[in-house]
Order: sequence, then structure tokens, then C-alpha cells
Amino acid sequence: MDLTLKVWRQKNRNAQGALEKYNVSGISENASFLEMLDVMNEQLINEGTEPVAFDHDCREGICGSCSLYINGEAHGPAKNVTTCQLHMRMFKDGETIYIEPWRSAAMPVIKDLIVDRSSFDRIQQSGGFVSVNTSGNTQDANALPIPKMNADKAFDAAACIGCGACVATCKNSSAMLFVAAKVSQFAYLPQGQVEAKQRVKNMVQQMDNEGFGNCTNTGACEIECPKSISIEYIAKMNREFLAATFSTSE
Ligand code: SF4
Ligand code: FES
Repeated sequence: MDLTLKVWRQKNRNAQGALEKYNVSGISENASFLEMLDVMNEQLINEGTEPVAFDHDCREGICGSCSLYINGEAHGPAKNVTTCQLHMRMFKDGETIYIEPWRSAAMPVIKDLIVDRSSFDRIQQSGGFVSVNTSGNTQDANALPIPKMNADKAFDAAACIGCGACVATCKNSSAMLFVAAKVSQFAYLPQGQVEAKQRVKNMVQQMDNEGFGNCTNTGACEIECPKSISIEYIAKMNREFLAATFSTSE
């Protein structure tokens, strides 16, 4: 495949960025999108041009670091896959592909296609954990019976990889789907109950502190989420938040 790439280049977070045009040829339709970018970068290095900075780690859809806006869609045109799992057969020979970073004030561009997603880390640190006493004997894994429906819901929420596509897609730059998934994965389990009230209050507060927008129920986040996290979890988080806010015990 021969392709024309329009790639966002930006020296640093304060510089003004712009789209630059690069041509790549001989790309296999079986190559992944990131492998195609590797070929482009090799070409740029051979020409003495600085390669394009982009984020990636696992390249198998689990770390959430490959975050690109491709032809106006978070993670590109394929459904339920991350950028690293997107293959070039989704594009046509001779096509022009626009490649941009996430756009959100709470996730500023650091360089080229890489954005600063440490706001997600701070939200996680504010409550996305359970405190476990590790002294004494190890408890049997099945000591706490959990209804199958709750286990499934917790598992589905835990599939969130923190990629930020929900934020990038939302017209309000809302992080509600991400935070809802992180709150819900514990809210459905007995292990998450001890810190439940403080967790949801702290994580929602931190989300607001980071400057993410509010949810207005457009549902765009759910459509572009590579892990199919449902907006039903936002309703769950709102219920948890209201219960925690109006609770008389804390
Ligand atoms: S909810 Fe989906 S889109 Fe948002 S961070 Fe998690 S995996 Fe990514
Ligand atoms: S590189 Fe890890 S999810 Fe894509």
C-alpha cells in the first residue's frame, strides 16, 4: 500500500503544532498501524528528519498507551480495538490518513502525538485501590461468595485500560466513563465496600480538579471505547456518589 500521512507535529507542550505531510510506500495490509508508523519513522531517520514521537508499550491492547486520533476517530475506524490492534487492511491503497493526538485541556500534548495522561494517574491514586491487610494467613480465594452477576459487572468494568479515548471523543472532555469504570470495579465487590464512600467522593473530586468536563449523556465515549465499557457504569457511579454524599455515617 502507498499512503499519504498527515501527522501532527509539535515540539513541546508550549509550541504551536501543525500537520506535516509524509508519504510511505510498500506497507503490507497485514501490518499494524504502529508498524506502519515505525516504517515512516525509519524513513524519516534515513532522511535526517526527527522521527515522530508516539506512545506505545504492550502493542497487544492491554496497556492503553497507544492513543491516536485517526481520521477523526479515537483509535481509528475499527470498533473495539486499540490503535496497536488496528491493521492497515482497514485503509485503502492511496488513502490519505490524518493522525492526531488526543485533544483535551486535561491531557495536554507533550510532543507530536504524545499527551500527558498523568491526570488519570492522579485520579487513580485518589481512590482507585483497596487497602488489604497482608499480615497473618492468606485468606482462601473463595471465602467471600460473590453473586455471578456482580462478579461479571466488576470484571467488565475492570477491562478499562485507561487509554483516554472516552475523554478524547467526548465534546465536553469528560472522564466520567473512565472514572465510572474504576469506581464500579470495586463497588460491585465486597472487598470494595470498606472504602466505597471515600473512594467515589475522592475520585470524582480529583476528576473535577483536573479540569475534565461534565457528562451530558451523548454516549460518544461508549461507542469509541476499545473495551466496550458501558455508560451504565456512569449511572452506577452517580448512584454511589449520591449515596456517599447523603450518607449520615461519614
Ligand atoms: S473507559 Fe474505555 S475509552 Fe475510557 S479510558 Fe477506559 S478503556 Fe479507554
Ligand atoms: S500499545 Fe498497549 S494498548 Fe496499544
